[in-house]
Amino acid sequence: MEHTIIYDGTKIFYYIALFAIYSFAGWIIEVTYRSITQRKFVNAGFLYGPFIPIYAIGTAFIILLQYLFQSWHFVPRIIIFGLALTIIEYLVGYISEKIFKLTLWDYSESKFNLHGRVCLHFSIFWTLFASSFVIFIHPVVLLNILRLDALYIKIAAITFLIYYLIDYVFSLIFIAEFQKKIAYLYTEYFKLSNVEIERIFDSFQRLRNAFPDLNKYINNKINNNIKIRINTFLKSIQDKVILEMDGRKPFEHEYYETIKDIDEHEEFLKLKEYFHHNSSIYAHVHEVSYLSYRICKFLKLDYRSAARGALLHDFFLYDWRNHDIPDLPREKFHGIEHPAIALANAQKHFSLNEIEEDIIKKHMWPLTIVPPKYKESFIVSFSDKYLSSKEFIGEFNKRRKNKRSAHKAIRRHKKLGTN
Ligand SMILES: [Fe+2]
Ligand SMILES: [Fe+2]
Repeated sequence: MEHTIIYDGTKIFYYIALFAIYSFAGWIIEVTYRSITQRKFVNAGFLYGPFIPIYAIGTAFIILLQYLFQSWHFVPRIIIFGLALTIIEYLVGYISEKIFKLTLWDYSESKFNLHGRVCLHFSIFWTLFASSFVIFIHPVVLLNILRLDALYIKIAAITFLIYYLIDYVFSLIFIAEFQKKIAYLYTEYFKLSNVEIERIFDSFQRLRNAFPDLNKYINNKINNNIKIRINTFLKSIQDKVILEMDGRKPFEHEYYETIKDIDEHEEFLKLKEYFHHNSSIYAHVHEVSYLSYRICKFLKLDYRSAARGALLHDFFLYDWRNHDIPDLPREKFHGIEHPAIALANAQKHFSLNEIEEDIIKKHMWPLTIVPPKYKESFIVSFSDKYLSSKEFIGEFNKRRKNKRSAHKAIRRHKKLGTN
């Protein structure tokens, strides 16, 4: 009988009738399953009418496979049925995602699923279903159809076909409308009021009930959209900060290039010979210069002048604790006098700009009364005071420690002597 139905071209109306019957049966199965799981009546499928064509397509494949593999043992045969239905389910899921941009079902939370489109327990269900279909259902349906008058079948088939095409066209229009609204929802989500969002959601209530995973899909899409927008926003801020910070970053090679000519000058190198705070003047001016360079670069000031001016701020070639310089009488106070001496030395060996001169001249402010003229001069003055006090404290602690260990050594020595 199956043979007749499949190969007799004149029986096209029987095929259509079978298609209608199995689409309707599929709808019954889906409605039952969905109404039970969602605890309310759900009109399943994307068509308005009570038909789910995918079931009819599935059964057509099963009938064909049953015919092709009828000589095979029952077990491999039903495995082929299961595989075929799983492949069909996967392809329909794939097509609806890729072409219609809709995820109609999602097994991604089920065990042993493939891309959320198929999963093991549904595939087992399809296999059992296909087996009972070819053994029990299809023969009975076929027998009853063949008993009916051919004219009735023809009328029913044509009626179904007309109805089905109309339903299909309207459903496609509805899906297109739905996709448009969804796209609108994704892009305008932030601008829409809650009422407008509700209205859009309500307008495709049926589709959302029919495909509950669709809600999850829409929510995910909206969440992703929000995430993308937030990330884009954060990224733009981050880029601005990076761009902003890039101009403020200190670079040792840049610093060295700025001060190279001074640092290599033989007169300047003499500063290594004079003790200052805790090491040499040379080490101290380098510390002040680099710190000033960093601060000025960060504040987007003239960091080059700051670095050079700071390097020359203590350019005096004598030991200020024990000097015997003709130009600097002993009674004169080094703290007030040395900026002018440093400036004169610097001018003698290097060409200075106005900021550099101001830096050197005013670095002892407020000890020297006239305040600095430039921000860079204030920064160098501050850096100098900060680092000098640090160097003094370091030196003081070092000496105290040395003194203590010297005392200890004397005490130990005395103790040994008395013993
Ligand atoms: Fe100084
Ligand atoms: Fe200094």
